[in-house]
Amino acid sequence: MRPSRMEELKEAPNLVALPEKTNGLLSRFMRVGLIFFLIASISLALCSTFSSQTTSWFPILAQNQTRTAIPTFTDNNTELPTNISHMLFGLGSSVATWRDRSRLAETWWDSKTTRGYVWLDANPENVSDVSAHIPHRVSSNWTQFKFTHSQSEVRIGRIVVDSFNLRLPDVRWFVMGDDDTVFFPDNLASVLSRYDHNKMYYIGGNSESVEQDVMHAYDMAFGGGGFAVSYALAARLAELMDGCLDRYYNMYGSDQRVWACVSEIGVPLTKLSGFHQFDIRGDPYGVLAAHPLAPLLSLHHIDAVEPIFPNQSHLDAVTSLIQAYRVDPPRILQQSVCYDRRRKWTVSISWGYTLQLYPSMVSALELKMPLQTFKTWRSWTDGPFTFNTRPVSSNPCEKPITYFLEHVKDGKSGNTLTTYKRFAGHEEKKCNTTNYAQAMALQRIVVLSKKMDPHYWSKEQAPRRQCSEIKNRASLRGGTMLIRIRRCRSSESITI
Ligand SMILES: *[C@@H]1O[C@H](CO)[C@@H](O)[C@H](O)[C@H]1NC(C)=O
Ligand SMILES: *[C@@H]1O[C@H](CO)[C@@H](O)[C@H](O)[C@H]1NC(C)=O
Ligand SMILES: *[C@@H]1O[C@H](CO)[C@@H](O)[C@H](O)[C@H]1NC(C)=O
Ligand SMILES: *[C@@H]1O[C@H](CO)[C@@H](O)[C@H](O)[C@H]1NC(C)=O
Ligand SMILES: *[C@@H]1O[C@H](CO)[C@@H](O)[C@H](O)[C@H]1NC(C)=O
Ligand SMILES: *[C@@H]1O[C@H](CO)[C@@H](O)[C@H](O)[C@H]1NC(C)=O
Ligand SMILES: *[C@@H]1O[C@H](CO)[C@@H](O)[C@H](O)[C@H]1NC(C)=O
Repeated sequence: MRPSRMEELKEAPNLVALPEKTNGLLSRFMRVGLIFFLIASISLALCSTFSSQTTSWFPILAQNQTRTAIPTFTDNNTELPTNISHMLFGLGSSVATWRDRSRLAETWWDSKTTRGYVWLDANPENVSDVSAHIPHRVSSNWTQFKFTHSQSEVRIGRIVVDSFNLRLPDVRWFVMGDDDTVFFPDNLASVLSRYDHNKMYYIGGNSESVEQDVMHAYDMAFGGGGFAVSYALAARLAELMDGCLDRYYNMYGSDQRVWACVSEIGVPLTKLSGFHQFDIRGDPYGVLAAHPLAPLLSLHHIDAVEPIFPNQSHLDAVTSLIQAYRVDPPRILQQSVCYDRRRKWTVSISWGYTLQLYPSMVSALELKMPLQTFKTWRSWTDGPFTFNTRPVSSNPCEKPITYFLEHVKDGKSGNTLTTYKRFAGHEEKKCNTTNYAQAMALQRIVVLSKKMDPHYWSKEQAPRRQCSEIKNRASLRGGTMLIRIRRCRSSESITI
């Protein structure tokens, strides 16, 4: 949750303040004092063991515990599966930025089903500063905490507590994000339904750029990609967070503060590959065209990367993807590969987004590895990333011909039809082979599919890529290819 990444170019801050050294007499005096204190504490502990079952034997080692009673969660339908209504979103923003950023948030926020608030630093004075669709709240008590870098990071870190303190009914998960995080709430609800919200879970993803994970932490949920905190964990954070904010005052980001506090509770990060912090520069195409076999949960840094659809504004491009997502949420960006063996062509589909046509036979093994169309976040270099990438070839005959989503149709009886149009990039050098020329003649590719089971990602099933086949191999003359995506037969494989 870093509204301004510019600041990140500064030195990495010291995460923990070291106690100052003491020396000489003073130190000896303190040691004597400590021994007295230890003896006193142990006898106190022994005494209190008889009076209270719950007091620690060694109170000197025990953590300060707030004894304020947090009402237990009275979710009467806790047996029923978690759905979109059980998530409460908390987006970090400010009066100064929300007017601009709300346009992006409105692309995915559905007032009918999305619960939550954007949290601002103050009451907006001008009605045009707020969104008509996304309700806002003002962060409470945030100026009272210590900080060294940015006070707004303290405030944003505390949103999970502010959200919890609203005590809204039937909230099982608190989902935190930036005002420029694009969420895919149906998919998020599906995956969260696998976990018990009455246990403590901290679910998110880290950065794509190794340099960022090294600088911050591999096991931290990066706030821009968004993360989910179970009810049980939020209840503990509500007790501890204010103390944590003062203890970790010299940290940089809001997400680091939550991570630090969650670490004190002893809860690890449950990492899911569908969260996309998008700590990358350039064109995110490679990642989106070869998404891991997992539901798409979030996208971030939309304005920092090139628009995901060429020749569209950042906002329009996200709107296009969301349109496809709404038609078949679990399938968005799911990859499928098929071959035209006679022509020796390979097609890789990223549903709802793009299609790549290779006038050669390319293995699924290779295709599931993202083309490196991007650089690292901080140093703009070619890696390393937290996943493998393959280089974009400089030989035009090895580059795929790319198609982008043009139309999506929600057909009858659970069928969908998506159309992808060939995109002629301005820098495209033509490959001279006859095979390539024939492939280039294909202007459109139409993809038919049945909608995926809406609960596909909520089941603890072994995921498997779906198969696809070209339906009109014999008659591509019209300049259109027709592909059907379907479940693979159990004996089927995607073999060259
Ligand atoms: C522990 O609690 C006491 C009394 O409430 C307070 O004075 C002290 O600062 C707390 N210590 C820490 C480390 O939070
Ligand atoms: C849930 O149960 C509690 C206690 O039995 C009851 O007071 C409350 O009204 C119930 N809520 C709903 C939504 O049924
Ligand atoms: C979610 O589940 C609850 C029951 O726990 C139900 O009342 C509610 O209508 C469901 N919401 C949606 C959007 O399906
Ligand atoms: C509210 O903002 C709009 C757009 O910037 C501006 O034209 C208008 O004067 C503002 N109104 C007030 C009361 O500040
Ligand atoms: C804000 O702080 C005051 C004083 O510390 C406290 O009484 C109040 O409950 C706090 N409000 C919230 C919403 O935390
Ligand atoms: C880009 O968009 C403009 C205007 O919509 C259109 O005229 C042009 O053909 C598009 N270019 C490509 C390469 O699709
Ligand atoms: C394409 O082929 C023609 C003739 O075979 C040749 O002159 C030309 O240089 C080739 N162009 C490229 C880009 O390879």
